[in-house]
Amino acid sequence: MEDQAQKLRKMIEEAKKSRQDSGEEIKSLKNSDSRIIAVSSGKGGVGKTSLTVNLAISLAKKGKEVYIIDADLGLANVDVLLGLIPTYTLYHIMSEEKTLDEVVVEGPMGIKVVSGGSGIRELANMSKDKLYSLIKNLQMLNDRADYIFIDTGAGISDVVLSFIKASNDLLVVVSPDPTSITDAYALLKNVSEEQKNISIIVNSVSTKKEADDVFKRLEIVCNSFLKLKINKIGYVLDDSNVRSASRDQKPFYLEYPNSGASNCIELISHRIEKTEDEEDEKIKEKRFANFINKFLSK
Ligand SMILES: Nc1ncnc2c1ncn2[C@@H]1O[C@H](COP(=O)(O)OP(=O)(O)OP(=O)(O)O)[C@@H](O)[C@H]1O
Ligand SMILES: [Mg+2]
Repeated sequence: MEDQAQKLRKMIEEAKKSRQDSGEEIKSLKNSDSRIIAVSSGKGGVGKTSLTVNLAISLAKKGKEVYIIDADLGLANVDVLLGLIPTYTLYHIMSEEKTLDEVVVEGPMGIKVVSGGSGIRELANMSKDKLYSLIKNLQMLNDRADYIFIDTGAGISDVVLSFIKASNDLLVVVSPDPTSITDAYALLKNVSEEQKNISIIVNSVSTKKEADDVFKRLEIVCNSFLKLKINKIGYVLDDSNVRSASRDQKPFYLEYPNSGASNCIELISHRIEKTEDEEDEKIKEKRFANFINKFLSK
């Protein structure tokens, strides 16, 4: 196992070096690695997939190269929400039948989607050393993407939990429903040792005040029992346009650009970009290596 991990680290270094030697122009972040953001929740159905897709589109609209890896087994998957019909999934990458480029489908604003499909079940049962081909393909992504979102399911397997712990950032979606808050706390308790960059989105609220109250409740328990600091990155209003757009398999951010929910998405994507600007260059260069190290150390 250690050998495998070393091999992967070496591969990352070599890929980076050849990229630099060839003077290849790297998208907008230049020498930065992709920022890998896991989106998760304790309770299911709180809006992870809707928010991931629309945030990704909003960042793509600003000229960023954005990928979504759909690791969600929920009913409304990323592809369904966008009306995309992928032929291949993560499974085909892991089984080395297809390359990432053959699996990726393009969505609105040029966002790229890697469908999980049944591959996620396979992934759950796969030993770490079998993930080599997946990581090799993720390395390819690292050369291109500014952001890689991983939309995780609510009922999470060990491998998805590893994604959550290893990601550069974790976005946790909560709703005002009390069980959503207690379930979010349970998730945070599970990952807080390894994952410290945690931001909360409060979804489906009627007012900003309601979002602030929900955040406060979560913040107090995280502070008191986990000694964990969480960031308030934003909220999204409960908006019937979100439901209409998902019924039409269209992103609400493009269908209803002036809706309350779209304005909230705009604010959150602005904050994601802002934290990007503030991050140390040294950390940006090592994001992918850090991801792999953490991912393989479990
Ligand atoms: N802000 C909102 N206003 C109104 N409806 C919303 C909002 N956010 C999400 N929804 C609706 O809630 C439902 C669930 O959303 P979504 O599928 O994104 O949740 P999820 O967390 O990904 O679910 P799962 O855990 O099953 O993967 C969808 O019908 C979606 O349109
Ligand atoms: Mg989902």
